[in-house]
Amino acid sequence: MALTGLFLILFLAVHLAGNLQLLKADGGRSFNIYAEFMSTNPLIQIVSKGNFAFILIHVIWAILLTRQNKSARGPVAYAESSGKSSHWTSRNMGILGTLVLVFLVVHLKDFWAQMHFGQMPTVDYDGKTYRDIYSLVDLWFHKEWYVGLYVFCMAAVGFHLYHGFASAFQTLGLNHLKYNGLIQTVGRAFAIVVPFLFALIPVLMYFN
Ligand code: HEM
Repeated sequence: MALTGLFLILFLAVHLAGNLQLLKADGGRSFNIYAEFMSTNPLIQIVSKGNFAFILIHVIWAILLTRQNKSARGPVAYAESSGKSSHWTSRNMGILGTLVLVFLVVHLKDFWAQMHFGQMPTVDYDGKTYRDIYSLVDLWFHKEWYVGLYVFCMAAVGFHLYHGFASAFQTLGLNHLKYNGLIQTVGRAFAIVVPFLFALIPVLMYFN
């Protein structure tokens, strides 16, 4: 879970950097050229398959671990589960992860599946034809409920990362008294800044 989680964290950072081009005031040109490259470059396509495999492994492993934990505990639940010693995000990783998964299914259906298998409008730049994914994103991000859904789901992504980031380092044994504070600070900053910027994209596009 930790290894796949760390890969997905890296993916999120790259995905955000690419998506921030949606905010460029160039009518979607930079984003469309970038998206065309990402969805056709053979090397990126291999990474993309790995990405989907990692998502699947992460989810399946989470289900297996939850089952194992439940059966190890037996029929009697913990008497103390309000957990003064643990952050609430760590006790709710299952529900937070499920929210992220529901978001992913909606997100992939509307953008990724449309880009790869759907009917797409096209646009020409310097005599070359590109699929106009920008206009599709722009269309969705002009629906209030959809923008609200993204903002809500980005909060779930943030809380999931809030515990997951430092926890992944601990699971892999990459923790050290000297660096634990730094890992936790970087993890918490990542968990706040990255989902915040993801959420800002639909909000700014809506009001633009
Ligand atoms: C403002 C927020 C976001 C926007 C505008 C956005 C946009 C897109 C677009 C346009 C694609 C299709 C690109 C292509 O296949 O070439 C895509 C794919 C994808 N997105 Fe997002 N995304 C956002 C947030 C997220 C978040 C928060 C996650 C994860 C929690 C995520 C996970 C993915 C995944 C896994 C893919 C498939 C990538 C692949 O082909 O390997 N996205 N996104």
